[in-house]
Amino acid sequence: MPDSRALNRAQWDERAPAHARSPDYALERFRSEPDFISDVVRFDVPLLGDVAGLRGAHLQCHIGTDTISLARLGARMVGLDFSPASLAEARRLAADCGAEVEFFEADVYDAPGVLGAGCFDLLYTGVGALCWLPSVERWAAVVDELLAPGGRLLIREGHPMLWALQDSRPDGLLVVEHDYFEREQPMVFDEAGTYVETDAVFEHTITHAWNHGLGELVTALLGRGLRLTGLVEHDSVPWEALEGQMERLGNGEYRIAERPWRVAHSFTLQAEKPA
Ligand SMILES: C[S@@+](CC[C@H](N)C(=O)[O-])C[C@H]1O[C@@H](n2cnc3c(N)ncnc32)[C@H](O)[C@@H]1O
Repeated sequence: MPDSRALNRAQWDERAPAHARSPDYALERFRSEPDFISDVVRFDVPLLGDVAGLRGAHLQCHIGTDTISLARLGARMVGLDFSPASLAEARRLAADCGAEVEFFEADVYDAPGVLGAGCFDLLYTGVGALCWLPSVERWAAVVDELLAPGGRLLIREGHPMLWALQDSRPDGLLVVEHDYFEREQPMVFDEAGTYVETDAVFEHTITHAWNHGLGELVTALLGRGLRLTGLVEHDSVPWEALEGQMERLGNGEYRIAERPWRVAHSFTLQAEKPA
């Protein structure tokens, strides 16, 4: 079995510059509009509440758009990712925007050693992040270690039921093809493209991914002594997860065009570390 981490990192390193150039990540708007924030963070704001002054960390921050958005909302942010090419884009964007955000290169499982244990009031993560991690229990341990007493986690993520579906079908049926529960063995995907508009051609197309059931995620966090403070399932997701089968809602979100109530598309979970 090839090294999952190396395969995935090569894939992200290759995609980062294309993502930074894509209109979908809107880097030019970050540069020209000092108040601009990403659609993803804007969607989260009602649940996120006031983050001004919080010491925040964004795990798996990619090219930094959500990290910088949280900084623009007043949080004192750091970002962490294992892809140097992603972080190069994130640092360039932060410098261009005058955002005081520091970015760290590390595997998410090494985050407490790199960012500091017990240092954060807010941990933010999501939208295509958990699926790259083999163990949700190890991730929950990282979250627990990073949070200061009284600190909180907000994760918005593609719903594990959506991840389990087969790609778009001409008959519009939603068919479960992939794992729902976490398994040791990764799911192997070979995808030529990416989730944003780009004409880039990629060499690294194989990835290894893992699904984590919603119950597994909740249980992992409860198992670390965190208190669940919110769990909302949404009927939209911020990328075209089922190509050709979804409609754009105009706020960066997509919804299955036909009978979207058949499946939860994404979720927001919040948890708190007891003070
Ligand atoms: C889809 S992005 C998620 C970020 C955010 N939703 C966005 O679109 O900007 C996934 C990120 O996870 C990072 N990643 C994947 N596995 C990782 C790991 N084991 N440790 C740290 N970062 C990882 C990748 O490098 C990539 O930047």
